[in-house]
Amino acid sequence: MDSDVAALKKLVDESSNIVFFGGAGVSTESGIADFRSVDGLYNQEWKYPPETILSHTFFERNPEEYFRFHRKKLVVDGAKPNKAHLRLAELEQEGKLRAVITQNIDGLHQAAGSKKVLELHGSILRAYCSRCGKPYDADKMNHGTGLPRCDCGAVIRPDIVLYEEPLDDAVLTEAIQLIRAADVLIVGGTSLNVYPAAGLINYYTGNKLVLVNLSETPYDSYADLIIHKKIGEVFSQI
Ligand code: OAD
Repeated sequence: MDSDVAALKKLVDESSNIVFFGGAGVSTESGIADFRSVDGLYNQEWKYPPETILSHTFFERNPEEYFRFHRKKLVVDGAKPNKAHLRLAELEQEGKLRAVITQNIDGLHQAAGSKKVLELHGSILRAYCSRCGKPYDADKMNHGTGLPRCDCGAVIRPDIVLYEEPLDDAVLTEAIQLIRAADVLIVGGTSLNVYPAAGLINYYTGNKLVLVNLSETPYDSYADLIIHKKIGEVFSQI
C-alpha cells in the first residue's frame, strides 16, 4: 500500500467521528461522467453550456431542452455503487463514519447502504410539480418523452438544486454542524469550485483534513493529507 493511502487508513482506523464530503468524482468509477474533467459534462458539445442548462431560468424558459439534457446526461441507467460508495456505507455500519455529505444527485450512496446521507443538491430520484408541489414518480420523469406534466398542468421537475436556486437550509445547517464536530474530514471527488457547497470545508476546525481527488483543487494547501488517486481504488484499501 502506498504511504499516502496508509496514512489515510491510520486516520480511519483511529477515528469514530469521520465525515465524508464528496462530489461527482465519487461516481465516475460507476460510469457517471463528472462535470469538469476533460471528458466531463462541461466539455461535451451542447448548444448551451451545461451550467446554463442546469439553471432555474433555463428550466423555466426552455424546459424541453432541459429535459433533453436531463434524460441524456443526468440519468445514467444501470449505474451501480462502486468501491468508494460501498466502503463508506461499511464505515458507517462500523460506527466510524457519522455522515456522507454529497453534491451528487444520483442516489448511489443510499444504493450502497449508507443511511445518513445529506444531499446538498437534491436527487434525480425524486420529482415534484413546479407549481403545486405535488410529488411524482421520478422514473416517469427520467425516462418518459415530452414534458412531464402535473394534473394541474404545470411541468414536473426533479428535486434537485438548479443554479440560481438556494440550497435547503436544514440540510446546509446540518452539514455545517457535522463538519464542525468532525474529527476527520475526508473530502473526495470534487473540484471544490461550486459554492456554497465548496465553502463547507471552512467550517472544519480539526487537523485531519484529507483530500482524495484525481486533480488539484483550490483547497489543496489547506489539507493535512492529499491523495491524488482514484477514490474507489483508495477506499478499497482502507
Ligand atoms: P466536478 O466535475 O467539478 O469535479 C469532480 C472532481 O472529481 C474533479 O476534480 C476530478 O478530478 C475528480 N475525479 C473524477 N473522477 C475521480 C475519481 N475516480 N477519483 C477521484 N477523483 C475523481 O464535480 P463537483 O465538484 O461534484 O452542481 O461539481 C460540483 C457541482 O457542479 C455539481 O454538484 C453540479 C455541478 O454543476 C449542480 O448541478 C448544482
